[in-house]
Amino acid sequence: MCGIVGYLGDKDPKDVLLGGLKRLEYRGYDSAGVAIHDGTTFKRVRASGKLSALEEKLSNESFSGRIGIGHTRWATHGEPSERNAHPHKVGPVTLVHNGIIENFHEIKEDLKSRGAQLASDTDTELVAHLLNEEYQVTKDLRKAVERLIPLIRGAYSIVAVSEDQPNKLVAFKEGPPLVVGSSRKEVIIASDVQAILDHVQEVVYLEDDEVVEVDGTDVKFFSANGFPIRKESVKISWSADQMEKHGYKNFMLKEIFEQPRAVAAAIDPHIDLNNYRVALNRVGFGVDSVEKLDSLNFEDDLKNTIEKLSGIERIFIVACGTSFYAGMVGEYLLESFAEIPVEVDIASEFRYRDPVIPKNSLVIVVSQSGETADSLAVLRQVKELGALTLSICNVKRSSIDRESDGHLYMNAGVEIGVASTKAFVSTLSVFHLFSVFLGRVRGKLTEAQEQEYTQSLVAVPSLMESVLVYDNFFAEVAKTLKTFRGFLYMGRGVNYPIAMEGALKLKELAYMHAEGYAAGEMKHGPLALIDDRMIVMMMVPSDKHYEKSVSNLQEAKARGGVVISLGTGENTELKEMSEHYLSLPKAHWSVNPILEAIPVQLLAYHVADALGHDVDQPRNLAKSVTVE
Ligand code: F6R
Repeated sequence: MCGIVGYLGDKDPKDVLLGGLKRLEYRGYDSAGVAIHDGTTFKRVRASGKLSALEEKLSNESFSGRIGIGHTRWATHGEPSERNAHPHKVGPVTLVHNGIIENFHEIKEDLKSRGAQLASDTDTELVAHLLNEEYQVTKDLRKAVERLIPLIRGAYSIVAVSEDQPNKLVAFKEGPPLVVGSSRKEVIIASDVQAILDHVQEVVYLEDDEVVEVDGTDVKFFSANGFPIRKESVKISWSADQMEKHGYKNFMLKEIFEQPRAVAAAIDPHIDLNNYRVALNRVGFGVDSVEKLDSLNFEDDLKNTIEKLSGIERIFIVACGTSFYAGMVGEYLLESFAEIPVEVDIASEFRYRDPVIPKNSLVIVVSQSGETADSLAVLRQVKELGALTLSICNVKRSSIDRESDGHLYMNAGVEIGVASTKAFVSTLSVFHLFSVFLGRVRGKLTEAQEQEYTQSLVAVPSLMESVLVYDNFFAEVAKTLKTFRGFLYMGRGVNYPIAMEGALKLKELAYMHAEGYAAGEMKHGPLALIDDRMIVMMMVPSDKHYEKSVSNLQEAKARGGVVISLGTGENTELKEMSEHYLSLPKAHWSVNPILEAIPVQLLAYHVADALGHDVDQPRNLAKSVTVE
C-alpha cells in the first residue's frame, strides 16, 4: 500500500509528482504530500484526505527546483492526518516510505531514550531520524542508506533526498516494489510503472536489497553493502491510454465493460482456434528470469511444461480476497477436468499453519497485483519446501511473477478500480484453460472433450456482452436495493465462489452487510437471517445442482426473503419464485461463473453508486496490499 514517486529532471516536479501520485492513488488515499526543492530547501506540502486536497493546497505554489518526492498514503502507524502524512523530514533528510517497519517499537524507544523529538506517530519518521543520524556521520546520502539498512526490519521501499545534496535521489527496497525510469533529461522512481508511463517507456525493476543513486541524470545501482551492480532496463507493456476513463463515470464501470476483451486476451495466447486445443504458451518453468519468456522457443517450452506438469500429484491454490475466490472456482475445474486433488487456501492462513506440502506438489499463487504480501510470502515459503510454483498474475514482472517457477498471465490490462473485476474473470478463464490442459496431460480428457470445453470458453466473450445489458436494470433497482438490511448470496458447486465474490464486492463498495454461502449450508444457520428485509441473490444455472438450488430458493422465499435469481435462458419456474429473474445465456457449466460475475459486480457497483460512495476508492482499502 502507499504510492511513492521521486523525480529529478527538466520538467516541473510539482506536475510530475502530482501526475504520478494520481496514477498511484489506488494504492492508498488517506493523505498525500510532496517535498520539492525551492532553490534553498525541500519544501513540504501535505494534506489529509484524497489527493485532490493536496492538489488544492499546491495550486498556488511554485518551486524553482527540479527535484522532489511525493507520497499517497494508506495508514498503518498513526491515523490518517496531515501530521502523519509523508514526506517526513529530520534535519537535512526528507523521505517517503511504502511498507511497515517491524522493529518500530524498539527503534522508537531507543530514539526517545536519546532525546529525539517525534513529530508524528509513524514508523516512517523513525526511519528519517535514523537516516539523519547516519547522514551526520557519512555526509553522503547513499552511504548513510547503506548504514541504515541493517538497522531496520520489515517491508519497505523508500526514496530519500537531502538538503545538502539537492541533486541527488536515493532509493532502496526490501519488499514493496520500486521501478526506475530514466532518459537523458530526467529520472523518475515510483512504486509502479503506472506513475512512469507518461514520461519514459523503459524501466529498471529494483530488487530487494538494492539501492539506486540518482545524481543529476546519472543513475547508478548498488547492492545494500555498496557494491556497484549492473541492471538491465525493460520495455513497459502497458500504455498511458489504458489509464483513462474513456467516458465512463469511473474506472470500475469501465473495467466491468472491458471484461469480454479481458477474457479474450487471457485465453488468446493459449488456444489454437483451428482445432480448439489448448497449448500453454511460454510458461517458462525453470527459466531464470521472466525477461527471457518472450524469446523462448514455443515447442521446446511446451514440451518442458508438459514434462513438469505430468509429474504433479497434488495442487495447492493460494491467494487473497477476490483472487482467492477465483482460486476456489479453479479447484472445481481442476478436480473435474484433470481429476487431481486440489486444496485452496487464503494466503494469510496458509503461511502460518505449518502447511504439509507432499512431494510432487504444484502451488499456484494467484495475484492481480503480484505484490500481495501474504501471497508473496507463501510463494517463498513453498519454494523453500521444494514445491513447483506457478503464478497467475496481471502485473507482469511483479514480485510474484518474477519469483515463481512458471508464469501465466491474466492479460486484463491495467486495473485501476480498487475492487477487482476484470482480473477476476480473466483468472477464471486462465484456470479453465489450465484445467483443460492438465486434463489432457494427465490423460483424463478425450480430444473431443478438450475441444468441447475449449469451444465453450472461446464463446464466453460474446456471451458476456449479452449479460452486460443488465447494467441498466441494476442502475434502476439500486435505489430500492440500497434500502435493504442485508444481502445473502448463494450458489452450489462452481457457482458457490461467485456467491462469495458477490458478497465481498457489496461489502467493500456499498459498506452493507452481505454474506456468501454454499446454498447447501443454508439450513445450518443462515436461514435464520432471512426476512423481508433481506435480499437473497441465488445462482441457479441449469446445471447438475439446479433442482437442489431451486429447493433452497423456495426455502428462502418461504421465509420472506426477496429473491434475485440468476438462471439459464427463459425459465418460468425461477421467474415465478423471484422478485427479479435475470436470464443468463446457455453455456457449459464450467463457464457459468464468468457470466454470473457480471451481475454480482453490477449490483454492488450500482448500490454503492446510489449510496453516493466513491466506487473506485472504497474507504479503508487499497489495491495493492503490500503489508500483512
Ligand atoms: C476485492 C479485491 C481484493 C484483492 C486482494 C488480492 O475486490 O480486489 O480482495 O483481490 O487484495 O489482491 P491481488 O490479486 O493483487 O493479490
